[in-house]
Amino acid sequence: MRSKNQPRPESEQFEKIKTDVYSCAGEASNQVARETAELVREKNAAGRPAVLGLATGSTPVRLYRELIRLHEEEGLSFKNVITFNLDEYYPLPKEHRESYWRFMQEQLFQHIDIPEENIHMPPGDVPRNEVFQACRDYEQAIRQAGGIDLQILGIGRTGHIGFNEPGSARDSRARLVSLDRMTRQDAARDFLGEANVPHYALTMGVGTILEARRIILLAWGGAKAKVVARAVEGPVTEAVSASFLQGHPHARFIVDKAAAGDLTRFRLPWLAGPADWTPPLVRRAAVWLSGKTSKPILKLLDENYSENGLGSLLTEEGPAYQLNIRLFNEIQHTITGWPGGKPNADDTRRPERASPFPKRVLVFSPEPQDAVLCLGGTLNRLVMQGHSAEVIYQTSGNLGVPDEEAWKFAEVLAESFPADTPDNLGRTVMRQLETKNLNETDPPETRRLKGLIRREEARAACQVCGVAKDRIHFLDLPFYEKGRYRRFNLTKEDADKMTAILEKFRPHQIYAMGQGADPASVPGLCFESLRRAVCKAQKTEWFKDCRVWMSNGTAEEWALHEIDMAVPLSPAELAGKIKAIYQHQSQRSQAPHAPEHLREAWQQAESRNRETAQAYDRLGLAEYEALEAFKLWQPNPG
Ligand code: GLP
Repeated sequence: MRSKNQPRPESEQFEKIKTDVYSCAGEASNQVARETAELVREKNAAGRPAVLGLATGSTPVRLYRELIRLHEEEGLSFKNVITFNLDEYYPLPKEHRESYWRFMQEQLFQHIDIPEENIHMPPGDVPRNEVFQACRDYEQAIRQAGGIDLQILGIGRTGHIGFNEPGSARDSRARLVSLDRMTRQDAARDFLGEANVPHYALTMGVGTILEARRIILLAWGGAKAKVVARAVEGPVTEAVSASFLQGHPHARFIVDKAAAGDLTRFRLPWLAGPADWTPPLVRRAAVWLSGKTSKPILKLLDENYSENGLGSLLTEEGPAYQLNIRLFNEIQHTITGWPGGKPNADDTRRPERASPFPKRVLVFSPEPQDAVLCLGGTLNRLVMQGHSAEVIYQTSGNLGVPDEEAWKFAEVLAESFPADTPDNLGRTVMRQLETKNLNETDPPETRRLKGLIRREEARAACQVCGVAKDRIHFLDLPFYEKGRYRRFNLTKEDADKMTAILEKFRPHQIYAMGQGADPASVPGLCFESLRRAVCKAQKTEWFKDCRVWMSNGTAEEWALHEIDMAVPLSPAELAGKIKAIYQHQSQRSQAPHAPEHLREAWQQAESRNRETAQAYDRLGLAEYEALEAFKLWQPNPG
């Protein structure tokens, strides 16, 4: 890390908050845990308590895990630590399975030696007429403890810190706030439906947070990239409450590579300092320039390059016309109707090699609908072109089935038995749903039925894509079966299942998704489990003949310059893909007239594939109906 006196590198000139980028969330969390432990020990040595401001959500989970490890294995004591949490849903009893109180107990406090009286949480269960006083008391308690030494923050997609939604003032204090629609939607899965998410929350104000002596904001995964860039490089604005951290002398962002992706030094590095013109960067620059000037690649002029900060690229690789043609060809060659390689064809410029033919292909689907959402068209082509494609469903997806959907199946099941049959799965589930406690996870029978529903949907979707039943595999990874959203934990059992499936098929081609996703999310964990298995497989002989293609899951599509293979879908193929997605009926949007980002999954997949085709068209390449995009993954150990 840079020492305090070193000047800020030129590449970071656009950043108004110091931002440290780590290769992965685990490494970054360990670093923050070390820093926290140091503070606790320092304060202890000086005979004073360390006052920590703590956050919830999936972001700090790894940090808490590491603090627990430091406590258990390295004797770090929290006896002299006082904590204040940022926020709590309102109204919500402490015991509710989604209360931040319970979250903190389960994720940290239960496992360390902090005295109960040192823990402070905004009280989500006080009566409404006492809220104002409770907030004042909370602020007062922070002051009495001497103020917060280190405040840990996450960031919401609306740019909020704590629950300071857009519109929160710089000097706002602890108070009751109304939650933004996007925040409630993000919490919908945790609360088993948006309707169950509280509308309000108690939160420290922006002003309260800014009084902390040191602040560290953590962010992981590509979904946070845009908001991180707005907070770090954009104007200070109430629209992004994290941007107020720009005015704090000791605030830092600690992010992983994916969350840093939209910072200028990564997105447009040539604007942030001298660029090292590697082939991917050249492609990125030309695609960007074409968008900026609204010109197809072959029409870009020397002056377009030089007037837009790309003079050094021209010096190295110009003149423009020559560079344009080279890039045009390069991008053209990413398009192929033969995702498994074209047998007996010259493959020197094709994304995938011609032999072996046919190929053994494994398609990994984190949740059941992901496979067809991401590569329904490609999967169908692989099968039609004679490859043996196996679809591997990593998780059962049972957490994602709404109760009303399960009810229908339970009722059908129950009715298929004579009325005097004492018990059957259908009746049991109906009873469980009738007496359902929103505070608890579904009992095993309900989860089982929900999992079976998704299996059947997956089989139906595969059938539309031409995949035979005996080529469908359900791994039901244990991390998912044993866990809950935001609190999943990969174990050796998951690793063993993933390794076994790779070993069983020894594929020539793998399709994967979830890279760059929030590492605590289902796609993030599924990707991590695959990454580990692949790293292991890299040491084997068979893997030398294997390529891994990455779909960007259901996150934002790969940027054009990142795409190594684009598979065209004819109008009929696109319709087939939509039909396949449609089979995942339990995943229909629960919200009629839903806003743009909550539209039906098939609509989102359709427009995403159409947009990729349009983007190729705008570059001046062939105009297709739709394209599915993949990036070649270079798995590196770590
Ligand atoms: C909630 C919390 C925030 C948190 C944010 C991000 O809204 N109130 O404190 O930073 O979610 O959550 P996650 O870390 O799960 O992405």
